[in-house]
Amino acid sequence: MISKPKGTLDFLPADAFKRLHIEDKLRRIASLFNYKEIRTPAFEKTELFRRGIGEETDIVSKEMYSFNDNEFTLKPEMTAPVIRAYIENSLYNVSPVQKLYYISNMFRHERPQAGRYREFSQFGAEVIGSGDYAADVDLISLGTSFLSDFGLKNLKIKINNIGNLDERRTYIADLKKYLEDYKNHLSSESHKRLFTNPLRILDSKDGKDIEIVKNAPVIFDYLGPDNKSHFGNVLKGLESMGIQYEIDYKLVRGLDYYTSTTFEIASDDLGAQNAVLGGGRYDMLVQQLGGKATPAIGFACGLERLTLVLEANKYEFPEPGNPKIYLVSAGEEAKKKVIVIANELRMKGIFCETDLLNRSIKAQMKDANRLNAGYVCVIGDDELRSGAVKIKNMAGGDETEIALDNIVNFNFI
Ligand code: HAM
Repeated sequence: MISKPKGTLDFLPADAFKRLHIEDKLRRIASLFNYKEIRTPAFEKTELFRRGIGEETDIVSKEMYSFNDNEFTLKPEMTAPVIRAYIENSLYNVSPVQKLYYISNMFRHERPQAGRYREFSQFGAEVIGSGDYAADVDLISLGTSFLSDFGLKNLKIKINNIGNLDERRTYIADLKKYLEDYKNHLSSESHKRLFTNPLRILDSKDGKDIEIVKNAPVIFDYLGPDNKSHFGNVLKGLESMGIQYEIDYKLVRGLDYYTSTTFEIASDDLGAQNAVLGGGRYDMLVQQLGGKATPAIGFACGLERLTLVLEANKYEFPEPGNPKIYLVSAGEEAKKKVIVIANELRMKGIFCETDLLNRSIKAQMKDANRLNAGYVCVIGDDELRSGAVKIKNMAGGDETEIALDNIVNFNFI
């Protein structure tokens, strides 16, 4: 037997139905906020991610699925591809602010565990072209709105401002100075990061690192007046909508393109991989990828994690519908007629099922019951001869006689 690759998921019909429901809801909410869908290829030139996400990030340094001599890579995230498409298609000429959303599969060669897969899906949104705090508030409220539309309450939004490049450069220098005194006590991963990406030490999960980092310099003290006021306005905007947040000066996120606002929404229902949604500003990325300097902000939400949280919260997913009518056939001629009538019913938008196994009438009735069909109609030689059939309402048991050729016009309730 050949099994699916490690870290991937099959969506059997019941799971796929749940996912469809989630996607429908996300699309509806995104359109209420005037976000338009964007789709990009499953793979891109590897260079896009190297330049966009950063060589030292976990994603680029060890998690990419690259092929054709590393020329191409299956997309590990969508922000870089969306910005590539924005520049390549001159979307800035269409409108000064682009509000885009996507639902798409991502690929990262990570160590699989609950809530962490090698192929997973994200719902994400990006606002490109505005550096105003109103864009941050618009985008974050899209994130909190869809989560609360799913009835989720046990969620924490953490928010930070990691400054612009200059502010961060000064901060990182001081942070490094501080951490160097503890370099022999840091975890081996953080020890390495001291030289490659010291900022990431702030969100290390290692107990020793957490203790060391407690007294480290705080990024907020390095922000200039613009970013301080931006941060303050974003927080006020969230407060005005009743969105609860917690400031977390250690929230730096794992992708290099972030500047200014960063945020994450986590759930206690998710164990170690508790981030459902994460994002932030990336005001330098458009320029970095060859476009004109353009501020932007976005987030992405992992749909597998969202589903786990919904299940933990006993979210009531809708049930798939049942056939309105099951056509039971008795005999070869009737079977041929049933094929035609079933097709006519379906073309009229009526959910109809028939037997495909040449089963006995009794077995077909059983099948109709199993599928919880609303009505059953038995068609055999007698019905073909008389041209009349009985349609039985399975709920009440009452039967209505109707002309065989008129089944499609029956008033199904
Ligand atoms: P990210 O934090 O790497 O950000 O991923 C966003 C979300 O995707 C996570 O919070 C999580 O729910 C989900 N996720 C990530 N990796 C996995 C995995 N291996 N298995 C299952 N779910 C996963 C980004 O991707 C940025 N592009 C977000 C963004 C958009 N920033 C600005 N715009």
